[in-house]
Amino acid sequence: MSAKNPSTKTPKTPPAEAAAPAGPAAIDALLHEKRVYPPPKEFRDKANVRDEAIYKQASEDFEGFWAKIAQELDWFVAWDRVLEWKVPDAKWFVGGKLNASYNCLDRHIRGARRNKAALIWIGEPGDRRTLTYWDLYREVNKFANALKKLGVTKGDRVAIYMPMIPELPVAMLACSRIGAVHSVVFGGFSAEALRDRINDAQAKLLVTADGGWRRGQIVQLKKDADEALQGTPSIRHVAVVKRGEFQVHMTEGRDHWWHDLMSDAEDHCWPEPMDAEDMLYTLYTSGTTGKPKGIVHTTGGYLTGVYATTKWVFDLKEEDVFWCTADIGWVTGHSYVVYGPLANGATVVMYEGSPDWPDKDRFWRICEELAVTVFYTAPTAIRAFMKWGTEWPKKHKLTSLRLLGSVGEPINPEAWIWYHENIGGGNCPIVDTWWQTETGMILISPLAGVTTLKPGSATQPLPGIVADVVNEKGESVPVGGGYLVLKRPWPAMLRGIYGDPERYKQQYWSRVPGVYFTGDGAKRDEDGYLWLLGRVDDVMNVAGHRISTMEVESALVDHPAVAEAAVVGRQHELKGTAIVAFVTLKEGKQPSPALMEELKEHVVKKIGKIARPDEILFTADLPKTRSGKIMRRLLRDIAEGKAVGDTTTLADPNVIARLKSRYEEQEG
Ligand code: WT7
Repeated sequence: MSAKNPSTKTPKTPPAEAAAPAGPAAIDALLHEKRVYPPPKEFRDKANVRDEAIYKQASEDFEGFWAKIAQELDWFVAWDRVLEWKVPDAKWFVGGKLNASYNCLDRHIRGARRNKAALIWIGEPGDRRTLTYWDLYREVNKFANALKKLGVTKGDRVAIYMPMIPELPVAMLACSRIGAVHSVVFGGFSAEALRDRINDAQAKLLVTADGGWRRGQIVQLKKDADEALQGTPSIRHVAVVKRGEFQVHMTEGRDHWWHDLMSDAEDHCWPEPMDAEDMLYTLYTSGTTGKPKGIVHTTGGYLTGVYATTKWVFDLKEEDVFWCTADIGWVTGHSYVVYGPLANGATVVMYEGSPDWPDKDRFWRICEELAVTVFYTAPTAIRAFMKWGTEWPKKHKLTSLRLLGSVGEPINPEAWIWYHENIGGGNCPIVDTWWQTETGMILISPLAGVTTLKPGSATQPLPGIVADVVNEKGESVPVGGGYLVLKRPWPAMLRGIYGDPERYKQQYWSRVPGVYFTGDGAKRDEDGYLWLLGRVDDVMNVAGHRISTMEVESALVDHPAVAEAAVVGRQHELKGTAIVAFVTLKEGKQPSPALMEELKEHVVKKIGKIARPDEILFTADLPKTRSGKIMRRLLRDIAEGKAVGDTTTLADPNVIARLKSRYEEQEG
């Protein structure tokens, strides 16, 4: 393992007390972050991981280390071999049998956790539901039986398109109980995006809701689902949760109300013994080429990975109240709202709506009311909180908080310090957790009881994780920048791309042979700390979620007025990256503000709101190489208002000057 164990070497930087104050003077520190935060003694004394020997144990006995933590789960049949690894295919806990919903529910209801809150849910309008482990167990069993009654069997795919309501984790756990593979599609995706994902997975059943609440508005999920279902021949039945008094159309024979299905369902369903390598779910994410990839996760390794990392990274204790603010439609919600915390028997908070509804203190109100102890959110949210001002968190007593987390993109030191001071009251460690849909579990993160923190650095690979920073040739870079790669398999790693083994090999295992390529750049400092630098491919990170430039381009070109489009990401104060599209129109089509709006809406229709371009620039031509490749690098320079880089390979050098002046004109 080339990244150093944090404990073997104390950073040569001054202790936290000597830290530079946050404020204008701190801007310089962005480039050379020197502040460090050792674990507070009170935290370290009680931490689940307080002995740094864990790193050494993991590297000395890699398989034994993972086997030991896997044993904390309940297995119906023990495994024969911990790991079978033949690049690029990993099999973990070979021969073992278990059930994910059993591990999240059944084993807790036999003891003191039976009446413990599993889910505390708050709807945006202010309604609230608490489900104990026993309640959740019953709901899951009933819905599992309902699924069976609708003809769903082991191995079938079930699509789930829902708001953040308790029935969403219930549906996921019910699938896992009977061995069906769930495919959750984020409720913010469009009808077309839903349709593509249903078809790719050949889902048999869809679970949705009449609607949900977002910023005081109804999100009409059933309406979008109906549109999607016009082109999804594999779907036989639809289960519809009644979230509100929303008017929806129910198709006779196909659509069933959730409450009707539940009212006559038996409340016990035997958990299907699943092979450790049986599929648990697929989840779609963007890649560098147009079509979203269905990332495949299996049962034994995934559950072990999320169970372990929840315990280590979030330090969960019996009395904790854990709030991961991510929507379950993303992997963060799968791993750290549902499977990780429930496998640990934790109390999980779930909130339906927006952080600024009805006011900008909604999150802090919830933290105070529910006495949240561990809070996990994204830098894009933290930047919004900073912009809204400290008066909002100041309205609330946030003293229950003891640990904060961040995920989705690099957190800049200023946001880190703000979060530490204004939310954590200066004494909650922050875990900056790096991972991906593909990795399933957190891979790079501090362990708050042992790691000295540096604002802006995700610090070190977790025990049992072997990461490296390499150059173009795949050689390790001891200090400096390069590509982030993973050199050994880990339990929750993806097992492939649904239906596309070739793309799996190509995308992740071919850049540096035998090594997993993350697509992220990273820098390693003198102390062996890792600093994530963002994507190195054509994937943008918008508000903590990946969107491929290609996908937005395809959506634009799909519009009848568009001849060609090139999309780039530009730095954005709140979202991290803003989407800028350069568009060439077809002969005879005229640019206009109305058309600009229409194109933006067209992208929303094809993909969803998250992919809406922030800016569109109409241009007669795009900068291309002589071989006809669009030079996105130059477009990015223009969009960021920078001096345009090397243009020697341009077919027509004048294009850039024309584009640049047009862009500046439009930007005013
Ligand atoms: C990409 C994965 C995994 C949960 C959310 C996003 C970026 C994620 C960090 C972090 C810097 C981060 C990377 C990664 N990313 N966490 N702590 N620091 N960058 O999942 O949509 O699969 O995106 O998000 O670029 O590759 P995802």
